[in-house]
Amino acid sequence: MNAIAVIDQNRGLGRDGELLVHLPGDLRYFKEKTLGKTIIIGRKTFEGMGRRLLPGRETILLTQKEGYEADCPQCHSLEALFARIKDKDSAHVFVAGGEAVYRLLLPFCDTLFITKVYAAFAADRHFPDILPCTQTDVDKERDIWGGGAIQAPPQAFEIVWRGEEQVENGVRYQFFEYRRMITPQTSEGGKKRQLRRI
Ligand SMILES: NC(=O)c1ccc[n+]([C@@H]2O[C@H](COP(=O)([O-])OP(=O)(O)OC[C@H]3O[C@@H](n4cnc5c(N)ncnc54)[C@H](OP(=O)(O)O)[C@@H]3O)[C@@H](O)[C@H]2O)c1
Repeated sequence: MNAIAVIDQNRGLGRDGELLVHLPGDLRYFKEKTLGKTIIIGRKTFEGMGRRLLPGRETILLTQKEGYEADCPQCHSLEALFARIKDKDSAHVFVAGGEAVYRLLLPFCDTLFITKVYAAFAADRHFPDILPCTQTDVDKERDIWGGGAIQAPPQAFEIVWRGEEQVENGVRYQFFEYRRMITPQTSEGGKKRQLRRI
């Protein structure tokens, strides 16, 4: 499973239910990656999108609210989500935010498509602390999971691709692709749980 996000240099994702910055090039990139695929979003992100579904993609909405009105499939728990996507090719499934949903699902993701914006915005939602964000940091080959809210053992991602830096509306940004280097496992009940494929 993949995750896709645009973050600022403090891992900021959004504020007041909206994105931090409008970058048409990043929207095109998001479309290119997700067209014809399945995206998973939280209810608050859905509302921030004006409750409009993105064309050409299947959207699965996460909400605990029974009877929530939306013109797309809804899942009310992690278990229900996994049951819903179990027959899909996980390479065609994208976790698309926001913060609560990244925190919930990143432990199950192998590949991260991260757009890093080299600026700092006032944000009230953040991507989990697993990636380096500064220009110096991104030169490191390895990113070590830094803990944070997800109670999971150390996990590590490495940069496998980076795009050219771009500037749009006076904002400098760059695309990165990360792959998980080790298979995440938990020690629940002393048993190793394979999370790599769902
Ligand atoms: N920069 C980016 O790439 C990017 C991408 C997406 C979103 N965003 C931004 O992120 C912000 C929204 O993030 P957020 O953390 O506030 O909200 P969110 O993650 O979009 O949605 C949170 C909601 O998802 C539902 N949910 C979460 N875990 C669940 C579970 N285990 N089972 C069922 N439902 C579950 C709950 O809905 P109910 O309350 O209905 O139960 C929860 O309130 C916005 O500012 C948005 O613009 C940024």
